[in-house]
Order: sequence, then C-alpha cells, then structure tokens
Amino acid sequence: MSGINGRSGQSRRNFLLATASTTAAPVIARTLSADAAPLPSKIDPRDPISLALEINGREHRLSLDVRTTLLDALRERLGLTGAKKGCDHGQCGACTVLIDGRRVLSCLTLAASAQGRSITTIEGLAKPDAELHPMQQAFIDHDAFQCGYCTPGQILSAIGCVHEGHAESAAAIREYMSGNLCRCGAYPNIVAAMEQAKAMMITRKE
Ligand code: FES
Ligand code: FES
Repeated sequence: MSGINGRSGQSRRNFLLATASTTAAPVIARTLSADAAPLPSKIDPRDPISLALEINGREHRLSLDVRTTLLDALRERLGLTGAKKGCDHGQCGACTVLIDGRRVLSCLTLAASAQGRSITTIEGLAKPDAELHPMQQAFIDHDAFQCGYCTPGQILSAIGCVHEGHAESAAAIREYMSGNLCRCGAYPNIVAAMEQAKAMMITRKE
C-alpha cells in the first residue's frame, strides 16, 4: 500500500509514530530535566510521562501520554468538561482556555507544554463565594448564548480579548473574537456583553 509520502511500505502508523517521536522528544527531555532525572538512552514516545499542571490555582499531578492535548487532559483525565471539543482542529474556539492570562486553543496545545504555567478554565472563574466573573454575569445579562456549547470558550476568549486591549470598540471585538464561532448566532449579544464587562473588569482590575 502506498504511504502518506507516496513511498510503498511507509504505513500511516509508522508515519504517526515517527512524527510523534520528532515532536514529543524535546518536551519529554524538558520534563525529565526539570526533575533532574537521568535521561534514558532511548525515549519511546508511547511511554507515559509524569507532570504537574496548575489549573485554577490548584496543582494536579498526572501520568499521561506525552502526545495528550491539554483539552483531553482537562476533559478526560480531570473531569473539567467546561472546555468543549468542537472541531479538535483549531477552527472553532470552543476549547479556549487561558494560560498565564492569554487565550489558547487547548485542542492544539500539548498538556506537557503547559507545565509550570497557570491555566484558567471556565470552572475557575467564579469566586469561592460563587460570585460570577463580570464576563460571566454580562453574558447572562445580555442573553449572549442559546445552546451554550460555545459559551465557555467565548467567555474565556472575551476575557483574554479585554486583557489584550482588543476590546476598544464593537468592530475590534468582532475582529478579535472572530476565532470563536457560535452556531446559534449570538454574536450581537456577545459584543454587548463584552462592552458591559470590559468597563467593570478595568474598574476592578480583573
Ligand atoms: S475544539 Fe479547539 S478550536 Fe475547535
Ligand atoms: S450558543 Fe449555541 S453555539 Fe453558541
């Protein structure tokens, strides 16, 4: 059978393993060196690695395949299902979370690469006394959702957008939120919610 590069004998499985080996090895090496553990002479990308992720201010220790995405680690391993898997290809924004305050697509981010950084998911936005983040409250106030599937990603992306200084006008909000798709078409309400929340976030420095 012809393989992915057109040469016979190159199976899809071998191609994926070779690719994973190339991309995963630096991450494995960094993980191991951080713990001052000796590097094995041969690294198998299928071996699980141990890592610690700081999510919503709490440390979680995990053992997982180095190729695991942050989205799968959150949803499948930690039960944090707020981040949604829409496309799994970086095209819809439903999986958006914040890392060190900046928005990232967790479906395109290796969990191992988020080690040592501060991850925020929708589950970590409300205060311990259940007071909602201004952006969450604004989405409710403006009915900025219908089915709600895109909403966690929209809210985290909206917070990142305000922090980046890209919410100065409705046009800027539409431009810098264009990576977050909403099949229900709640866009006008999302823009209105962001304009409300932006003022409060700036006042409260959130
Ligand atoms: S699930 Fe990540 S961008 Fe769609
Ligand atoms: S509220 Fe349904 S996809 Fe956005």
